[in-house]
Amino acid sequence: MSTRRLRGAAAASQALPETEAPRPLDEATRAARARTTHGEPVVEFAEATPYERYVGVRQLQALVRPVTDHPAEPSFLVVTQVMELWFTLLRREWELAQRRLRDDDLDGAVAALHRSVHHLRSLDATWGSILWLTPTEFNGFRDQLGEASGFQSYEYRHVEFLLGLKGEAVLRPHRGLPAVHADLERALAANSLEDDVLGYLARRGLPVPAEVLDRDRSVTHEAHDAVTALWVEIYRDPRPGNELFVLGEALTDIAEIFGRWRQQHVTAVRRAMGAKPGSGGSSGLAWLERSAARVVFPDLWAARTEV
Ligand code: HEM
Repeated sequence: MSTRRLRGAAAASQALPETEAPRPLDEATRAARARTTHGEPVVEFAEATPYERYVGVRQLQALVRPVTDHPAEPSFLVVTQVMELWFTLLRREWELAQRRLRDDDLDGAVAALHRSVHHLRSLDATWGSILWLTPTEFNGFRDQLGEASGFQSYEYRHVEFLLGLKGEAVLRPHRGLPAVHADLERALAANSLEDDVLGYLARRGLPVPAEVLDRDRSVTHEAHDAVTALWVEIYRDPRPGNELFVLGEALTDIAEIFGRWRQQHVTAVRRAMGAKPGSGGSSGLAWLERSAARVVFPDLWAARTEV
């Protein structure tokens, strides 16, 4: 963002101790301790508390570095940072679901997908802390953000890639960070969640066409008649005992809530800056509306018309 010193950067540059894992404790020791303390929490620690060692609160706080004194800016910054953490958690859950599917462990995959649905709801709810932002307040700090834009979020791109929304162009902003760029490049060419779901269904004997199984991973998924038809069959029995229906509904929840997050983003933009151009160089609202209209898991939506 320029050579201006970021507020809080002084704290960030002070040598913070490496975050050490807390010492492990077992059930018996916890019980014995509770007897010695007569049920009250332990309050004596020679060093940083085990909580601090685990959570790294000082490191987190050092990252909250507003670039202005405007009272609205910390909410904008922290909400953005919190959303980045949700993106990371989603990525972990979905990559885990992919590994489980490859191991033919459907229950393990669905458990991760169900957890991710809860994370997505929390991600979406995070907009509540920023939706109040008015144009006057946003203008109060916007110029100081320079060209910084969520469009440059690489963790968000990982989320999109896992959901099958692929595109090489979004890699380009990250060429200056070779490790990040290489990781994204790998994810672009790798399976999306849907690719792993279809691979799993094919191994179970469902008729997934070879052209779908071998499709170019680096382009956005489009609906395919044979895949739509396959979900139509699965949805004929919408009961919890039909584990493939449960899988389909978990994926539909993900697509729906992710879509809601994108629509809330459009609303936040409309409220905070109307139709002005974006900081990242786009036309702003009109560009975002087009981007948010891209469909996640198109076959699951198309199947609903056919059932
Ligand atoms: C009211 C606050 C916000 C405004 C006014 C805003 C504005 C915009 C605009 C205008 C764009 C289009 C690209 C550009 O030209 O900059 C954009 C893209 C984006 N923003 Fe925001 N944004 C806000 C909050 C957030 C937050 C909190 C996040 C969370 C990380 C975020 C993540 C993104 C992402 C991921 C994109 C790319 C979307 C895509 O490729 O479809 N934005 N934002």
